[in-house]
Parts: sequence; C-alpha cells; structure tokens
Amino acid sequence: MLIIFCILFFIPHSFAFSLPDPYTTFSKLNLPPGVNGGSVSLDPLNQGPYVATSDGRILKYNGSDFMDFAYLSPNRDNLLGIPAPLGDSTGRILEYNTVTGEVRALLKDLPRPAGPAVSADGTFIAYGSYNTQQIFKYYLQGLKAGTTEVLVPELPGAPGITKRAVEFGYFWVGVNQMVQQQPTPVVQAYGYKFSSNGNVVLIKNFTTEYGNARVNVVQEYFNLLQGGTLYAGSRTSNYVGKYTKW
Ligand SMILES: *[C@@H]1O[C@H](CO)[C@@H](O)[C@H](O)[C@H]1NC(C)=O
Ligand SMILES: *[C@@H]1O[C@H](CO)[C@@H](O)[C@H](O)[C@H]1NC(C)=O
Repeated sequence: MLIIFCILFFIPHSFAFSLPDPYTTFSKLNLPPGVNGGSVSLDPLNQGPYVATSDGRILKYNGSDFMDFAYLSPNRDNLLGIPAPLGDSTGRILEYNTVTGEVRALLKDLPRPAGPAVSADGTFIAYGSYNTQQIFKYYLQGLKAGTTEVLVPELPGAPGITKRAVEFGYFWVGVNQMVQQQPTPVVQAYGYKFSSNGNVVLIKNFTTEYGNARVNVVQEYFNLLQGGTLYAGSRTSNYVGKYTKW
C-alpha cells in the first residue's frame, strides 16, 4: 500500500495513465418492449436500478424485470431522445436551493452542456460540452469560486451526463464517437473515468456490447461481493448494461 501511494504521489500532474479494464463481465437488463433508457441509478439501499425511460416513466428493476415506479410526464411524450440544434450555445446550468426552493443560473450561454456532477467534497461541478467534446470544471468554493476551467480537453466524441465514480474525487462520463464507415458513420461508445485534475485513468470500450448504440450515462456503484458494478444507460437501446468485475 505504501509503495502504491509513493508512486501515485510522484506522478506528475499532467501524466495520463490508464488502468486495465476490470469490468469484464456483461449482462443485459432488458427494458419493456419499445422503451429506451437514458439514465440509471440505484437507491441508497442499492436497490434497482431505476431508469428514466424515453416515454416518461421511471422503472425499477426488481431482480428479474423492470416494473413501473413513477411517471414523469402525463402524456408520455418522448422526453429523452431530442438532441438540441447543432451550434446552439444557449445552454445553462441551474442551481436549485433545497432550503429556499430558489433556482438560479450558475452558468449561461454554454455550447450544449450535458448533465453536471457535484464533486464529492462539494467544491466544484464537472460537466461535459456536447459541442466542444470537453469536460469543464466550475468552482463552487475556494479562491477560484465562480470560474471555469477545461478539465478534460480532448474527448474523441460527445460526452453525456457526468456522474461521480465510487472513488472519492473521480468521475465517469459516457462518450460517443462517430466513426466514418461505409455506407454510413457508426457510433462507438466509451466510458471515461477521470480524476478531479482531469487525468483519464480508465477508458471502458462499450462497442462490443452496444454495437452502433450510444451510451448516455455511466453509473458506478460499490458492491461488497463483486467489488463494483458499472451500469450503462442508453437512449438508443432497449436495455441497461450491467458490468461486474473480473
Ligand atoms: C418482478 O416483476 C415481475 C413482473 O411484474 C414478476 O413477474 C416477478 O415475480 C418479480 N420478481 C420479484 C423478485 O419480485
Ligand atoms: C473498441 O472496440 C471496438 C470493437 O471491438 C474496436 O473496433 C475499437 O477499435 C475499440 N476502440 C479502441 C479505442 O480501442
């Protein structure tokens, strides 16, 4: 343990290294017919996953099937599948104060931001930009409060929603790369795990299991028996992908 700490300590700030992919066992949690799921999360008791679907429902996985849990939209229109116009830069990141109920815009005029994640220590948020294919860091506290930095400068494709990883200070984001192929371009989906300093430590290649489908969210949970579970939600797939270790 001491040796590992020493090595990590002396790695220069910008040094990018990648760990071997531990999430080698895959299973599909099938959604009801005709429904896709763009988000996925467990509850505090690790029950679920819960999935927000393309037709405005929240479904809960009971160990063998997804069952209705809640409704988001009374008319169940397509809520998840509409990308904004290209070149749009009217995106905002809103802050909701749970005590006062007040909502204010933290950031405005952004080029298509994707869902942000608050860091585990609460000092910043990390969010992706669909148009620039980057991850940004916006400081909530400290000397840099109110300022934005580029955290991950070059992704191979558009990032989805950023989520906190199991380890303190790390995040996951789904990245969808358009690859030119005949007769039409195809999507290759990846999960990028990165640190608070922007070091990419793991790249999970989803292409074998997802084919030409996108991965919009990657959620990692600690799991005592298997060491960790990775869920991948896709707006263009009829299932939630579940990866376990080794
Ligand atoms: C899960 O839901 C399905 C469909 O409603 C049901 O048939 C099955 O018995 C449930 N399984 C458990 C473990 O509750
Ligand atoms: C990801 O996997 C696909 C399918 O095996 C492969 O074609 C692609 O080159 C891989 N991407 C990288 C960056 O290795």
